[in-house]
Amino acid sequence: MHAQDGQAKKKAPETELGRHMEKMNDAMRTLRTQVADASKNAASLALVATIKENATASLKLEPAKKAEVPAADQAKFVAGYKEQLQKTIDMVGKLEAAIKAGDNAGAAKLLDDVAAAQKSGHKEYKQQKKKAA
Ligand code: HEM
Repeated sequence: MHAQDGQAKKKAPETELGRHMEKMNDAMRTLRTQVADASKNAASLALVATIKENATASLKLEPAKKAEVPAADQAKFVAGYKEQLQKTIDMVGKLEAAIKAGDNAGAAKLLDDVAAAQKSGHKEYKQQKKKAA
């Protein structure tokens, strides 16, 4: 295994929103490994609750990228962020219902949808890290 230098290490979140996102990320990572396993449904529901809680808290916050948007467009930018996040929360609600109904295959599929929503949400609303030239 190649030794990684310090720069390859993940930086701690710099914003309150980033801290909520990080908690969602940890829960998602574990959930992915076990969502299809019905014997782990109780633990999976706890992870889903963590995702929901942190996503709901994130609704009250604004992306740091707002500062890069012209003043006239900021309200629309923030509204778009909240709308997309709410849609993601709704998906997580469906995922929760699927687990409760014992539909683990459906839950796994919904988790893929949540991951896709994460990707597009980040593309639009997360500040892109500037690469060192
Ligand atoms: C389960 C789904 C999601 C996960 C696991 C997730 C995870 C993350 C992670 C790990 C970060 C980096 C945190 C840091 O180190 O600073 C982040 C940042 C961010 N995410 Fe998400 N994310 C999800 C969904 C979304 C959605 C749907 C949106 C937008 C609608 C979004 C918007 C953002 C923004 C704006 C940031 C940058 C933080 C800031 O501006 O302060 N995320 N997310």
